[in-house]
Amino acid sequence: MEIFLDTADVNEIKTYVDFIDGVTTNPSILAKNENADKRSLIKEICKTVSGPVSVEVVSEKYEEMLAEGKKISKISSNVCVKLPCTFDGLRVCEKLSYEGISTNLTLCFSPTQALIAAKCGATYVSPFVGRMDDIGHNGMSLIEEIIDIFDGYNYETKVLVASVRHLQHLIQAAKLGAGAITVPPKILKQCFDHPMTESGLKIFAEDWKKLKSH
Ligand code: G3P
Repeated sequence: MEIFLDTADVNEIKTYVDFIDGVTTNPSILAKNENADKRSLIKEICKTVSGPVSVEVVSEKYEEMLAEGKKISKISSNVCVKLPCTFDGLRVCEKLSYEGISTNLTLCFSPTQALIAAKCGATYVSPFVGRMDDIGHNGMSLIEEIIDIFDGYNYETKVLVASVRHLQHLIQAAKLGAGAITVPPKILKQCFDHPMTESGLKIFAEDWKKLKSH
């Protein structure tokens, strides 16, 4: 499973760069770097990590979105153009895929949106599990359903689990065989932390001091 970092914080990306396969951003995430020049920030992120960096369009109409998507794709060779799972977004996906530009179809909340994204040649489709949970639905059931559908065909589209709120989302995504997941830094950090590892290390260090060294 590919693991992406869901952030535009370059220091966080540098901290975890050895463990991640790429980065995902969205307009809200990028806006956390107030006053930053958008293009320079995206370029810096693309230089910091070698894998795909998802950068989202903000246009909503086909022609504008297509032009914006192409412009974004030229920022760096590892940019992945993030498009919404709308009628226009999916049309742009089909067009960009045909031109060999990688895409991440975002704001996916249904199996049918994911199916159309796959048929349009999307590189990734991003169902938002946390936001589904937030409104009383089961985000991971959506992942299960999409993977089940994709399993019957030879689509190259990877299911990228997004809007991750806790480690159980990550564990369940891995159990279901999701192709990718994007996690905020605070959740990735938890993958390395366990109180038993900490206390075990402390005991080893204390016991080691009891030995004599020559
Ligand atoms: O980048 C898309 C997604 O991961 C956003 O998550 O926490 O805003 O629902 P969230």
